[in-house]
Amino acid sequence: MADSTRYVLQENQIPTSWYNVVADLPTPPPPPLNPGTKMPIGPEDLAPLFPMAIIQQEVSAQRHIDIPGEVLDIYKLWRPTPLYRAHRLEAALDLPKNVRIFYKYEGTSPAGSHKPNTAVPQAYYAKQEGVTRLATETGAGQWGSALSFAGALFGIDVKVYMVKISFSQKPYRRALMETWGAQCVASPSNETNAGRAILAADPDSNGSLGIAISEAVEDAATREDTKYALGSVLNHVLLHQTVIGQEAIAQMAMADAYPDVVIGCTGGGSNFAGISFPFVPEKLNGKNIRIIAVEPAACPSLTKGVYAYDFGDTAGMTPLMKMHTLGSAFMPASIHAGGLRYHGMAPLVSLMHDQGIIEAQAVKQRDAFAAAIQFARTEGILPAPEPTHAIKVAIDEALKAKEAGEEKTILFNLCGHGNFDLVAYDRYISGQMEDYEHPQSEIAMALAGLPSVAE
Ligand SMILES: Cc1ncc(COP(=O)(O)O)c(C=O)c1O
Repeated sequence: MADSTRYVLQENQIPTSWYNVVADLPTPPPPPLNPGTKMPIGPEDLAPLFPMAIIQQEVSAQRHIDIPGEVLDIYKLWRPTPLYRAHRLEAALDLPKNVRIFYKYEGTSPAGSHKPNTAVPQAYYAKQEGVTRLATETGAGQWGSALSFAGALFGIDVKVYMVKISFSQKPYRRALMETWGAQCVASPSNETNAGRAILAADPDSNGSLGIAISEAVEDAATREDTKYALGSVLNHVLLHQTVIGQEAIAQMAMADAYPDVVIGCTGGGSNFAGISFPFVPEKLNGKNIRIIAVEPAACPSLTKGVYAYDFGDTAGMTPLMKMHTLGSAFMPASIHAGGLRYHGMAPLVSLMHDQGIIEAQAVKQRDAFAAAIQFARTEGILPAPEPTHAIKVAIDEALKAKEAGEEKTILFNLCGHGNFDLVAYDRYISGQMEDYEHPQSEIAMALAGLPSVAE
């Protein structure tokens, strides 16, 4: 097995519980705060937005949380996902035998990414509590597709506010959501107060995840029949994604390997958490594993933001969360990795960065696409624009190890395919893709508006 290309687990090897990293962290995560009183919020404050079972997971410190049987049955539609050894990429990079690259491929899900890993349990718990409609936002369209798919399975209506720039870059994502029965509008829309206010100030707004979140939260908060579902950032979302890393550990064992470096791209932090958190107990036990979060240079929350309390959305409707942030007014450039254009970062990922458990790097989109093209021409799979960032750093780490004559095993998360992202590839191949690096002055301006919280 050691030299196989694909490491495949059986249906009965899908993990039966999610792993909660909170149980193992040296300090507990700072609580979310009520933006008015600045006091920690309780489960009842979140009840208008989320099903109670989800809220309990959000605040849980239990190490393992059982996956309901019905969710496991649905996971079987695409899980376990394969782990690949990147033999052909390694050959193209002329790596020595002791530098190895592995990738976990989440693009085999019906929606094409890791997002259904949490969409399905979120829809399941909503259904259990009698919810008939869910509202959400989507950046790349991957999350909106995933929730639409999950809604179809449980008979729940889904309304998706899709960031306008992605809405125009990816019309077929909308068609996919509609195929699964969801309704999708471009955000900012005229359907919410938050959307109308943004359009009044800037009729040409391209939208942002922060704005789309405001619209979806307002939708859910103002309708009895509707709850809100979030595709990243929050603890319960990261929790659900840990099936990825748990499977990867078993598959690496089949390859007689253990990673020295684990890499994932970070938008809100969920696929990165999914691949890496299950490795954290070993790391905290002293094993030498580097865990690298890769973000776009155009939206550098971990590498250039501050670790402070901020809103999760643009209109200031969510609780305040302590996280790495560029300020909730931050408008990221229109890079093609729509899922990475978020001003904040998961509080858990932020805390672990602050504690030095994980590290972060920023990558420019053209470098990321160059890596993706090399990957596609060797491994075959067309990566989504988001994980191109992880691929770039995986290649860099491999080449550094080769140069230094070091033995290295690298694992990265290929969290989605890019079959709906051909406009981005077309722009790169035809030389029309631009790089954006957000100027420090604009970051400083957005950060000046951070809410003040005494700590
Ligand atoms: C394919 C893909 N990767 C990554 C992300 C970023 O989200 P996260 O950091 O939560 O994994 C998204 C979000 O839309 C996505 O669609």
